[in-house]
Amino acid sequence: MTDRVLALLDGTLLDPAAPFLRADDYGVLRGDGIFETTLVVDGAPRDLDEHLLRLAISARMTDLELPGADRWRTGITAAIGAWTGGRDMVLRLIATRGPEGANRPTCFVMGGPVAPRIAQDRAEGVRVLTLERGFSGTEAAALPWLLAGAKTLSYAVNMAAQRHAAANGADDVVFVGSDGHVLEAPTATVVIAQGRHLVTPPLQGILAGITVERLWPAARAAGFTTETAPLTVQDLHAADGVWLLSSVRLIAPVVRIDGADRPAGAVTAELAAALDVPPAR
Ligand SMILES: Cc1ncc(COP(=O)(O)O)c(C=O)c1O
Repeated sequence: MTDRVLALLDGTLLDPAAPFLRADDYGVLRGDGIFETTLVVDGAPRDLDEHLLRLAISARMTDLELPGADRWRTGITAAIGAWTGGRDMVLRLIATRGPEGANRPTCFVMGGPVAPRIAQDRAEGVRVLTLERGFSGTEAAALPWLLAGAKTLSYAVNMAAQRHAAANGADDVVFVGSDGHVLEAPTATVVIAQGRHLVTPPLQGILAGITVERLWPAARAAGFTTETAPLTVQDLHAADGVWLLSSVRLIAPVVRIDGADRPAGAVTAELAAALDVPPAR
């Protein structure tokens, strides 16, 4: 059973346990790089076109010149072909700025197992803390060097927020802007339901989530209405359902906000079906 695979963009497979990155790679030295993560189910990567497009957008935002989508597909095909670790695989596409002075990005494709925590989050829900992000979405959107809408490797702040949550008896975080508006979770998009009306915050200072993009038309086909509109923490508490959406976890109901228990949301199963969530295994 292979529980890690590593491929280059020409399809070469490397030993995932062997040293690979140079110690002076800017991805290591500064977290300077970009990435994408998606779920592969039975050999098929979900929303691959969308992830390759967002990788290209992040590359543009960070002035990284990357090989084209076809090269990435070659690496992805090799990684998926080598995977024997089960029906579901987490696929990561990674591009760093490369070794110091080389002016050549380091690009690779990695496959690995889905963390056991994911199934638990989907089934039992997550307890979140709301934490201030320190700026508003509109402020961040006006300051492109903050790279708020790019998916960069600089996730140390996001991981610190999740550790803060864990140290305080929660599972995850919802970031709130300095204007009181809900932004996103460290690795997920926030969606709420008011009856059969679904709302997600506007794309200002946050990542454009692919999972919510996929949910919107599917939910409308299932009889929901959808909207992108500013949300406050009070809106979260008052909602009939709150969820965190992302490409691997897909959809996890929020069952506690800042210590206040809340119902998981009666429509969770309907939304999971709209998102084609694979069965627990
Ligand atoms: C900061 C952030 N927001 C939102 C998301 C959700 O995006 P997607 O649905 O494309 O996975 C992610 C995913 O990792 C993320 O890191």
